[in-house]
This record gives sequence, structure tokens and C-alpha cells, in this order.
Amino acid sequence: MSGAGSPRDMATQQGDSVEDALLKKALEGSIPVHVGIVMDGNGRWAVSRGLKRTEGHRAGVEALRRCLPALLSLGVRYCTFYVFSTENWKRPQEEVQFLMNLILEYSREDRSELMRRGIRVVPIGRWKEMPRQVVRALSRLVKDTASGQKLTVLLALNYGGRQEILDAARSLALSYSGRREELRDLSEEDFRRFLYEPSVPDVDVIIRTSGEKRLSNFLLWRAAYAELVFTDVLWPDFGPSDLYRAIIEYQGRERRFGDVRRE
Ligand code: FPP
Repeated sequence: MSGAGSPRDMATQQGDSVEDALLKKALEGSIPVHVGIVMDGNGRWAVSRGLKRTEGHRAGVEALRRCLPALLSLGVRYCTFYVFSTENWKRPQEEVQFLMNLILEYSREDRSELMRRGIRVVPIGRWKEMPRQVVRALSRLVKDTASGQKLTVLLALNYGGRQEILDAARSLALSYSGRREELRDLSEEDFRRFLYEPSVPDVDVIIRTSGEKRLSNFLLWRAAYAELVFTDVLWPDFGPSDLYRAIIEYQGRERRFGDVRRE
């Protein structure tokens, strides 16, 4: 964006950085309650620098770290990061191992910083089926950050949207056994109670990096009315300014829930 009134223009006039001007502009609009992020492009980022793909994942953790203060500045209440999908097990064993270690390191190294910032971490997915050490470190992180009030970071780990719906259907069937008659009146709200973290609201906007334009099995139920924002920026290069730009793009959309267009 350029020209009079653009964040770059405002920044030069007022001596702020472009990042500050973008934040200011984003704060003038309505802030999504729940943001979802598909962190894509780590491999391409690394290969383009002559590095191993796994180095892209390491740089991806830094990008996630940079985004947290920016989410806090915006006042976003929930952010779900797609860290490891149920399909990611098909990647080479060395890469899977590397990702498991990164998750383990992150859970241990960032614990106090997350606590200090008032950030609660909640994993979603079949994360308890991950390696025992990783599950243990994550469980501790969940416990130690449980009182965080400012932002809930949901880490989608061994997560699949279809699997979430399937797991919900399975738990629902077990819970209604013996009460089959009641299933006739089952509502969406009744079903929702069986999703992972049912108190977390629908996702308002999903941001996907690296130019790919797919949902890839992410938050399928909760994404029913989400706005989708795509950027060509590769995830390891993503930073606060890119996040603010994505939110500004979301704010420019007219949200529709199947109702009539507002004139
Ligand atoms: C997709 O990029 C990214 C992933 C499969 C992993 C995402 C994980 C992280 C960003 C780091 C882990 C975060 C924590 C909190 C430990 P890709 O490898 O598919 O990229 P490509 O499409 O360029 O190959």
C-alpha cells in the first residue's frame, strides 16, 4: 500500500515505523477474537538459502515467537497455530524427529516467557499420541501457563480437522449410548461440545503463508464462516507487520454468514 493515508505514508509523516503505523491502523478496525495460522513455506525458505529443510522449521519457531507480542498488541484472544498435522507423519523420519525435538525444546525454553506474558498454551489434536517426552513437556507447559489471561495459544499438534470431527462423533456416540432417542434432537451446539476445547469460539480468520491457497484439514468445523487471508510471504519471514496487514485485509471484508449483503 502507498500514497497519502497509507501506513507507510503515515509512518514517514509521524516518524513512526511502518510496523507501528500498521498496528495503529489495525487497531482502528474490529479485531478478530480467534485467528488461525497455517505456517507454510519453511522448507522452501531453507532450500532457497542452501540450507536443510529442517532449518526452515527452526526459523519458523522464531517467526511464531515474533508473532506473540503482536497478537497481544492487537488484543486477539485466541490464536491457533498449525504446528503438526496428522498427515505430517508421512514426512521423512529425520524431519519428523526434528519437529518433535523442536516442539520439545519450545515447550521447555519458552515456558517462563509465556507465563510472564500471560499467555495460556493449549494443545489440540491427538497430541497425547506423540512421543512420551513431548507429551510430558507439553503437559507441564499447559499446567504452568493455565492462569494466563491475555491470550490463549492453541497449538494444533497431531491435528486433523476430519479427525477432530471423527473424535467428536465417537465421544458423542459413547456419551449418548442408552439415550439414543435424544439423538433425534441433536443440535450443532450439542455436537460442538465434543470438539477439542469446546469453549474456544469459531475461528474468524485463517491466515496461510507461502502462496498456497488451501485449508489442508485445518479447523474444519470452526472454519465454517472464517475469512481466508493468503500471503506470499514464507512463514520464516513472517513478522508483526505481515500479521497487521493480514488483519487489515480481514477488516476490509464484509463478513457474511449466509445472510443478505448489507447495502
Ligand atoms: C510447513 O512448511 C510447516 C510445517 C509442517 C511445520 C510447522 C512448524 C513450525 C513453524 C515450527 C514448530 C513450532 C513450534 C511451536 C515448535 P513446509 O515444510 O511444508 O514448507 P514447504 O511447503 O516450503 O516445503
